[in-house]
Amino acid sequence: MTRRKKRPQRKLQQVTDSSGWTHVVKGPPGTIDARTAGIRLEHEKSAETKYTLKTYLARFRKHYAPTWQESSCSQSLSRLLEQEILPAEHIEITQCICLGLGSMTAGSESSSFELAALISMLELLGKKHRIQDVIFQDPVFTSLDRAILHSLGYTVVDTPDAFSKVDGTTFLFAPHLECYHYATALEVATPALSVGSDLQAYVEGLLSSLAENAKKGSCQIFRNFMRETDSRPMPDFDRTSWCKSTRIHWLKSKEENVGESMIEQGIRSMELVER
Ligand SMILES: C[S@@+](CC[C@H](N)C(=O)[O-])C[C@H]1O[C@@H](n2cnc3c(N)ncnc32)[C@H](O)[C@@H]1O
Repeated sequence: MTRRKKRPQRKLQQVTDSSGWTHVVKGPPGTIDARTAGIRLEHEKSAETKYTLKTYLARFRKHYAPTWQESSCSQSLSRLLEQEILPAEHIEITQCICLGLGSMTAGSESSSFELAALISMLELLGKKHRIQDVIFQDPVFTSLDRAILHSLGYTVVDTPDAFSKVDGTTFLFAPHLECYHYATALEVATPALSVGSDLQAYVEGLLSSLAENAKKGSCQIFRNFMRETDSRPMPDFDRTSWCKSTRIHWLKSKEENVGESMIEQGIRSMELVER
C-alpha cells in the first residue's frame, strides 16, 4: 500500500495594519515581509499629533460634537432611540463598553465623530437608564487618547479586559470592529443595545480576513445574536463613513422570542409533513 504523503499544513499569521484591520496571511509568524505584502504595520503608526489635551477638547467641543449633533444622521438616530429603545420595558442598560474606537488624536476623524455620537447616545439613554461605567478598549490608544477619555470621566482598559465585562445590560459600541473581536465580545453575552458591523454581510461570506475554523465559530455567534435582537441599519452620516455597513441592534423581548420560535417550530413541522 502506498502511503499518502502528508500535505504540509498551511500556517497562517495575523497582521494588524495601521488602520486596525487584521489580515490573515500565509506563512508562520516572522516569515512574511508585511511591507512587500503592502501592509502598513500598527507599530509603525506615528503617535505624533498636533493636539494637546486642551486643544483636542476645544476642537471636540467646537467642531466634532456640534457637527454630529446637527447632522441628519444624529437626528434619525435620536428618533430611533426615543421610539424603540427608551420605551422598551425589557431593556435595561447599566454600562457602556466601547471597543475599537480608533485613535482620536493619531488616527482618522471618524473616531472623533464616533466619540461625539457615543456621548450624545449616552446622554439620551441617561434619561431612563443609570449608566454607571463607560469603558473603552483599543490597543491603538495613545497616552493622549487615554487622557482625553479619562478627562471625560470614562474608564480605559487594556486589551482584552473589556471582553469579559460584556453582559445583558451593556450598551456595546463597536463600529467597524474587526469581526474576530466582535465575535469575542458577543460570545460572552448578548448586549442590551449594540452598534457594530453589519453581520449579515459577514455571515453571507465576507469574512475574508478569517481562517475557515474561526469563520464558522463567528458565524454561529452572529446568527444567535441576530436571532435574539431587532436591528436597523445606521442612518447615513455625510462627513465620514463611520455609519457605513453598520447596524444598531437591541434585545427582543421574551414574548417576541417565544412567538418567533413557535413560528419556526410550526414551519419545521409543516416541512416534515410535506416530506
Ligand atoms: C477598522 S478599525 C475601526 C476604527 C473606527 N472605529 C472606525 O470606524 O473607523 C478597528 C479598530 O479596532 C481596534 N482593535 C483591534 N483589536 C482590538 C481589541 N482587541 N479590542 C478593541 N479594539 C481593537 C483597532 O486598533 C482599530 O482601532
